Amino acid sequence: MSDRYAIIGNPVAHSKSPWIHAAFARATSQDLDYARIEAPLDGFAATVERFRAAGGKGLNVTLPFKQEAFALCSTVSARARVAQAVNTLVLETGFGDNTDGIGLVRDLEQNLSFSFSSVLLLGGGGAAQGVVGALLDAGAARVVIANRTVSKAQALAARFPGASASAYEELAGEFDLVINATSAGLAGESPPLPAGVLRSGVLAYDMVYGRETPFLQAARGAGARTCDGLGMLVEQAAESFFIWRGVRPQTRPLLEKLRGA
Ligand code: ATR
Repeated sequence: MSDRYAIIGNPVAHSKSPWIHAAFARATSQDLDYARIEAPLDGFAATVERFRAAGGKGLNVTLPFKQEAFALCSTVSARARVAQAVNTLVLETGFGDNTDGIGLVRDLEQNLSFSFSSVLLLGGGGAAQGVVGALLDAGAARVVIANRTVSKAQALAARFPGASASAYEELAGEFDLVINATSAGLAGESPPLPAGVLRSGVLAYDMVYGRETPFLQAARGAGARTCDGLGMLVEQAAESFFIWRGVRPQTRPLLEKLRGA
């Protein structure tokens, strides 16, 4: 029988992860099966345990369970500890990792060939929390976290030397990379950025994929380069695949196929 993996979340119906991991498995001749599991909001741990007891080898964890997954692990990687969130579980050992931050950085550096120094990160929730450490590790000279609820940005920044917090209306200085890690786009809204932040020479990156968010529209209108989070999705998946299988799949052919679709 093929080794069994899955993405677990709520909702999870539209996840592209099964498709991505099936493509990686084909390309690397790995015998595995990758499914979708929607866990009840109050039943994450029990659902994980059922999958493990039935022989499941590993899980990717998505919204809203990444913090709960962190709490469930017996050991975690340094980067998962820093993020206090886990998106990759190895069920035989109870090990948890977080590949979101490295996925974002690989997309920026390798797929987009973009080098950054001064980063503005929008949002103070789980999505932002998962990437601050990786941006700093990748050499960002500064990471400013702006959030509607400023106290959340302050609490997040306090965990990372090199990060600082700001209210949107008090943003100062120039940034070469502006990352939208808010869920504003899902409500058809854009984070309230002061004029001038998005400009020519800036890369505006939205961690949401597959839709032209108001943030990306505003960035394009201001002459900035834009990108959605599809590459991050593929790169975090490749890193999870490597953790489970010890084989690193190529991401570029898959990303080109997804972009063409
Ligand atoms: P996630 O795990 O996706 O980050 P979350 O923890 O619910 O989800 O966080 C959502 C983020 O989007 C928060 O930073 C939220 O700002 P607040 O902390 O002030 O609530 C941000 N957000 C959501 N809608 C927004 C909007 N219309 N404008 C600006 N920020 C928004």
